[in-house]
Amino acid sequence: LSTVGAQAGAAAPSTSAPAVSKEVTVLFGSQTGNSHKLAKKLTGKLQDQGFQVTLSSMIDFKPNTLKKVQNLLILVSTHGEGDPPDNAISFYEFLFSKRAPQLEGMPFSVLALGDTSYEFFCKTGKDFDQRLEELGGKRLAPRVDCDVDYDEQAEMWIADVLASLGQASVAAQAPTLVSTSAVHGGESSEYSRSHPFQAAVLENLNLNGRGSDRETRHLEISLENSGLQYEAGDSLGVYPQNYPRLVDDLIETMGWNPDELVAIPKSTEELSLKEALTSRYEITVLTKPLIEQAAELAPGNGLKALLAAGGEQELREYLKGRDLLDLARDYEWKGVTASSFVPLLRKIPPRLYSIASSPKAYPGEVHLTIRKVHYETHGRVRYGVCSTYASERLEPGKTLPVFVQDNPNFKLPSNPGTPIIMIGPGTGVAPFRAFLGEREEIGAEGKTWLFYGDQHFSSDFLYQVEWQRWLKEGVLTRMDVAFSRDTEQKIYVQHRMLEKSKELYQWLEEGAAVYVCGDEKKMAHDVQAALIAILKQEGGLSEEDAAAYLTKMQQEKRYQRDVY
Ligand code: 2AM
Repeated sequence: LSTVGAQAGAAAPSTSAPAVSKEVTVLFGSQTGNSHKLAKKLTGKLQDQGFQVTLSSMIDFKPNTLKKVQNLLILVSTHGEGDPPDNAISFYEFLFSKRAPQLEGMPFSVLALGDTSYEFFCKTGKDFDQRLEELGGKRLAPRVDCDVDYDEQAEMWIADVLASLGQASVAAQAPTLVSTSAVHGGESSEYSRSHPFQAAVLENLNLNGRGSDRETRHLEISLENSGLQYEAGDSLGVYPQNYPRLVDDLIETMGWNPDELVAIPKSTEELSLKEALTSRYEITVLTKPLIEQAAELAPGNGLKALLAAGGEQELREYLKGRDLLDLARDYEWKGVTASSFVPLLRKIPPRLYSIASSPKAYPGEVHLTIRKVHYETHGRVRYGVCSTYASERLEPGKTLPVFVQDNPNFKLPSNPGTPIIMIGPGTGVAPFRAFLGEREEIGAEGKTWLFYGDQHFSSDFLYQVEWQRWLKEGVLTRMDVAFSRDTEQKIYVQHRMLEKSKELYQWLEEGAAVYVCGDEKKMAHDVQAALIAILKQEGGLSEEDAAAYLTKMQQEKRYQRDVY
């Protein structure tokens, strides 16, 4: 990845702004692909201005080349409870370790992606920013922290970075691209996150049998005439609609008129309040910035006390699990108009689902596996926005706004002969239906092994008939299932892995790639512990060496996770 190019220097200013050369390294750490997408965009713009750019995922970047980097631009999201994305972990750990070099005035800037509804908003980006300064780096442009709807802020950061780099650099030279595969995945369609395609629902089935506690929908959606393309492992972004009764109750509680027309930001559109709150704005999540702004609208309603009183902790407690209807009911909003309140809301963010179909098996279609979420909290039943929309209001013939989000972190091995081990309980099995469909279509020879689990064999065995056919035809070599609530003692996928530790270790040694999809906090964590245990037991490795074995697999793209 090393770049060889002309040093600038001639036009470098001498005072506060760091000296700038024409070589730029762009590193991204991305879980769902947003910072990767932005990194590609930034790279294109830098190249247009004559910069020589090295674009790389953090995991592919050789940390011992860091000292040679001339300008470092970092785009990174924050995941879960303030964690770096999988492909950023090793670089993050390196930077915070004793091995990290002094950077002696190296110009850098950080774009942080995050979500203001999380306590550790943009933590990973903030950490990188602070650490690079500690190591002696000089900020080219201030860090920008983006909320879910990141487009505008990201644009501003890119403009700021380009301006700072441009100011201090010498005249443009012919651009030379030195990069990894990271640039791949050019958009082939006019439809995107900011301009979704209205896709028709072809089929919508409940995959769970009678008596199940679960409702899991299998959706078949048409991409006909969209130009949208995807690969097995990619995700589909879906813009959902809010629960109609929640919208009605909110409007009534606030004393607003559902038919009042409201302007939609950055568009010439005007929608009825009811429509706008149904399909454009987020009403199920409260964030601190929203509370702060709302408090200004109704100064006497007590909200200011919440902001002042117990400090951060009390506010966090209040925000947790509450929605806009709670806020409407818990505080006094008399006289607060819809036209003053609604613009404070965030745009409704799209939900990403791991695609459950191979495009080769179902040309022009995309399939999703969506489990309906509902639970009770603060005295009221809450409905998962997108899953309820998919379950209750997307019958065949309806349309929904979608886009494809490529996921370079979850791809089949390029060699179809490489064995794969897939671990996907519950709806985590979705991308493995895509993987096997793909391997069937291309006639891949590599062995395949699926670990699947759910609550009950009789009612929750998603896509049972398909796995059985693939087993019979040899597309699926082995399958182990763990039904957690059919036996006295709970059995999970990781227990099945441990039971088969010898064979599993053999597969790893033969070069198998391991894929984990589904719940992050519990399942993926326990599965990782099981992998470590297997490496220790069967390979005689120490804890440390087992962890290093997994990190190496990760670097070789042989351990990939799509977890949420
Ligand atoms: P449970 O609901 O009976 O606890 C899909 O949701 C399956 O994943 C269910 O069988 C669920 O079991 C199981 N599951 C829950 N926690 C898990 C964990 N920590 N590791 C693996 N599977 C888990």
